[in-house]
Order: sequence, then structure tokens, then C-alpha cells
Amino acid sequence: MTLAATYPDLAGFYERLAPGYDRLHRRWLRHAGGEAQAALEAAVRVFASPHAGLLDAGCGTGAFARRLISEEVIPPANLTLLDPSDAMLRRCVDILCEKARGRLEAMPFEDGAFDVVTCAWALETSARPAKAIEEMQRVLRPGGLLCLAFCADQPAIGIVQKAIRQSLNLRGAGRFLPLGVVRAAIETTGAAKVVSVPVTGPVAMLVAERDRS
Ligand SMILES: C[S@@+](CC[C@H](N)C(=O)[O-])C[C@H]1O[C@@H](n2cnc3c(N)ncnc32)[C@H](O)[C@@H]1O
Repeated sequence: MTLAATYPDLAGFYERLAPGYDRLHRRWLRHAGGEAQAALEAAVRVFASPHAGLLDAGCGTGAFARRLISEEVIPPANLTLLDPSDAMLRRCVDILCEKARGRLEAMPFEDGAFDVVTCAWALETSARPAKAIEEMQRVLRPGGLLCLAFCADQPAIGIVQKAIRQSLNLRGAGRFLPLGVVRAAIETTGAAKVVSVPVTGPVAMLVAERDRS
């Protein structure tokens, strides 16, 4: 598997899923993605200053943004949410921050616009993950931080994770990206440093610092 390939577009799938998304996603976090999600959120809490401009790309229903605001990690004025789905963005209506309808592969932002870019469980839904990574790097300022959680080609532990992976594969609702290839794609698009945080399950969590030059 390479990241250069073009995969089926899943934006329409998530548009339909929006009303029931939170319940399903809680189950995913409980059984498979919870460690990677916690690692991503910890990285943001540790590294992002309250003055940082943060983009949450593929924001879904905005659950992560709400936590950042309620815990006073980042004020709403410094937050931007991006998603291609109107149904998802409507669920973020209570979050008083910048919102943009758009895709990872063609983000409506200027170069270097953000100090931190987070992307949880959206890279694997992109039809062009290599382009998505290039774009996330483009909108980060030099020295900025990219925090990524995604379904990866890592071992599923136990019957529940195996069943979840099987059902995602069967429904075509995402893909399990090759961790080494994602990491290499981040390195070759201008990261000074990429750290893979060890997490269990068929998932990965990467933190990358954008090249300062
Ligand atoms: C599994 S949900 C993750 C949502 C949120 N980040 C979370 O952690 O709950 C995937 C999200 O990515 C969005 N999405 C799908 N294709 C996308 C694309 N090409 N670019 C940006 N977002 C996309 C979907 O609309 C959906 O909101």
C-alpha cells in the first residue's frame, strides 16, 4: 500500500453518519482508539500555549474542541475547525470559533497559518492521504506541531479490536494506513522531527515538529 494512491472518498459517508456519530465514536474510543486519542490530547495540553492558533482538521462533531475550551487549554478565538460535512459542522454550532467547510487535501488557509494542527481519525478517510499530509504541513508555521491519530496497520489486540477492524474494512469506512509510510510522508514534507507515541491496537499517534527553516 502506498499513500500516493487515490482511495474512495468517504466524505458522503460521514455526512450521513453525523446524527449517530458520537455514540459510535465513543464505542471506537472505548475499544480501540482511546489510548491514541488520549496521547494526542496530552500532546496538545503539554505543547500548545494558550496563545497558540490551533486547527482541528476533520473535526467531526467538535468533541475535542469542546474539551480544549472547557479545560481552558485554548480559547475559542484561537481555534479553527475544518470539515467537509455540513451535517458535522452543524453539530459544532455551539462552539464559537472559526469554522471552515473544506477538505484535508485542499485546505482554505494560508501557508503557515497555524501553530498546531490536530487531525484525529480523519487522515484514513481521505481519498489522497499523501496530499492531506502535504497540506497539513503547509498550513503549519515553521516550528509548529502536527498531532495525528489514525487507524494504522498495527496489530489488533483481542477479539473486539479484531472485530472492529473487520467491520470497518467490510463497510469501507476507512482504511488502516501503513504507519512507516505515513511517518516517511511527514518527514519528506518538511518535518524536523517525528515521534511515534507507542499505543496499543490497530492505530497510531504521531507528533511532528515542522522544520524551522
Ligand atoms: C471518524 S470522523 C473523526 C471526527 C473527529 N476528528 C473525532 O475525533 O471525532 C472523520 C471526520 O473526517 C471528515 N472527513 C472525511 N473526509 C475528509 C476529508 N477529505 N478532509 C477532511 N475531513 C474529512 C468527516 O466528515 C468526519 O467528520
